[in-house]
Amino acid sequence: MRDAMANAEVGDEQRREDPTVLKLERRVAELLGQEEAVFVPTATMANEIALRALSDPGDELIAEENAHLMLSELGGPAVYAGVMTRPVRGEAGRFGPDEVRRMVRRTDETHTPPTRVVSIENTHNASGGRVWPLEEIRVLVGTCRELELAVHLDGARVLNAAIASNVPAAVIAGQFDTVTLCLSKGLGCPLGALVTGSNELMRKARRFKHQFGGAMRQAGIVAAAGVYALDHNVARIADDHVRARRLAEGLHAVGVPVDLGQVETNFVQVNVGALGLDTSDALARLSEEGIGLSATPHPGILRAVTHLDIGDADVEQAIEGVPRALGVLASA
Ligand SMILES: Cc1ncc(COP(=O)(O)O)c(C=O)c1O
Repeated sequence: MRDAMANAEVGDEQRREDPTVLKLERRVAELLGQEEAVFVPTATMANEIALRALSDPGDELIAEENAHLMLSELGGPAVYAGVMTRPVRGEAGRFGPDEVRRMVRRTDETHTPPTRVVSIENTHNASGGRVWPLEEIRVLVGTCRELELAVHLDGARVLNAAIASNVPAAVIAGQFDTVTLCLSKGLGCPLGALVTGSNELMRKARRFKHQFGGAMRQAGIVAAAGVYALDHNVARIADDHVRARRLAEGLHAVGVPVDLGQVETNFVQVNVGALGLDTSDALARLSEEGIGLSATPHPGILRAVTHLDIGDADVEQAIEGVPRALGVLASA
């Protein structure tokens, strides 16, 4: 990847003269079954641009209460798109057409902000990398179309969802008006993301990208990492899923509280609260063992992530080190 970056052909990205950026945009649009893709520095910016392109300030956005754009973008949807956010309580990060029908609001032109956009996240980060089944997406998107609502997919990890459910990414992502894809997660790039959609929406997206300060110059150096990742790092996401499963089962077997049913992709959630530990104490103990987990929005729940820098030996080390660090005594 570093060699691809060093040797990238570049140009002025702001003028759409960077051949490597253009190539990445074409590749991602095709991968996600969308007309056009726009390269941006981060998935957060991709989400903000998508919401801005789909709505006007004062419109309402429905999203799951623990969605990344609700919890972890510092209010970006409010700041950049000016939307009212209405959280919906999900199960494993998912919600259905009934919730949308119940929540949708029509404007009376004087008082009520109109619901304009529904956003879903697949895989869903805060629930532990859970996958939306294709059929549920179809039904939800169908309902949104019927209600004349735009639909955004925060697909930062949509390739994990595609691989876990054995459905082409284009079949999942192609249903949405706009889709975010992140390059710096399972794809292993140092940075970068894309927002995708129709030509018309992406014309707007390019304008907002510039306004939000995301238009770049010789960005091909970074886009080259993305092209490299599409060529080399997509199929291997399946290895991350296998390793997460091995980690989860290994920890579970020695008595670490892990809900195996939650492990669908590359996250393993460890319930340190059930061991009477608070998360910062548990993180410090793990760090002393050389194991890096991270906090989640849920009190007492930590998250382990497998990715391209984590090999089989690392997983085995964690299976030994996590119980030791957390004071779990093997029952066998
Ligand atoms: C679902 C989801 N969307 C968006 C983002 C934002 O990604 P970035 O850090 O590239 O802005 C994240 C980051 O964790 C995420 O999990």
